[in-house]
Amino acid sequence: MKKNIILMGPPGAGKGTLAKQLKEALHLVHISTGDMFRDAIKAKTELGNLAASYINRGDLVPDDVTIGLVKERLSQPDCEAGFLLDGFPRTLPQAEALEEIAKQISRPIEVVVNLDCDNEELVRRISGRRVCKNCGAPYHVVTMKPKAEGVCDLCGGPLYQRKDDNEEALKVRLEHYVAETKPLLDYYEKLGLLESFDSLVGKEQLFDEVKNFLNK
Ligand code: AP5
Repeated sequence: MKKNIILMGPPGAGKGTLAKQLKEALHLVHISTGDMFRDAIKAKTELGNLAASYINRGDLVPDDVTIGLVKERLSQPDCEAGFLLDGFPRTLPQAEALEEIAKQISRPIEVVVNLDCDNEELVRRISGRRVCKNCGAPYHVVTMKPKAEGVCDLCGGPLYQRKDDNEEALKVRLEHYVAETKPLLDYYEKLGLLESFDSLVGKEQLFDEVKNFLNK
């Protein structure tokens, strides 16, 4: 089975949704930089205040801050069993730093799972997304409704719309994706690590396809 995985794809491609499914099925540690920043924002820490000033307008949090956070998390013993990086790396300096960190902790990246999704669908997914305030589980007002409106199926927490899930911030997020993150696909292709999947097939089929691939 492949461990030490990077999940890549544009905002709304389904990284978080897939990571939560794979984490349960394959017993991997899910490391989402977006979730880590949102936790810090909720806890009103210094990191949270800094992150909010970038995230809410759709910009990337500076590399040094993000790299430091991931380095610290990857060094923890639970990552020995394997990890899923969701939302990191997003820039070339982050990818280069990750290569160094992976060497230092002797946990090399084994595969980069990229989710393809067209822009129209990304806009539909992001504009309809609702997230649980307690556990972060993602829903959609049309395609992935909770059993009871506004309530998380998993923990009963209230659902909310993320501050960066609006038209203006999404435009900025997509611009960052095209300019800074998409070029990393070539970087990982050259390293022979890239494997792309069509995320339009739907949540369950995508999960089956990726899980079967990782289990090979
Ligand atoms: P982050 O939280 O990582 O956001 P993102 O990359 O923009 O991705 P999203 O969480 O929006 O989408 P997703 O791909 O996880 O989709 P989801 O599964 O929710 O980052 C947020 C911000 O933090 C960044 O903008 C930046 O400011 C900062 N940040 C984070 N990492 C950083 C870094 N490394 N460097 C600098 N800054 C960083 O699904 C979306 C919707 O679609 C849901 O409604 C879901 O129900 C639905 N859906 C999901 N999968 C499917 C499917 N297969 N079929 C149909 N519907 C689906």
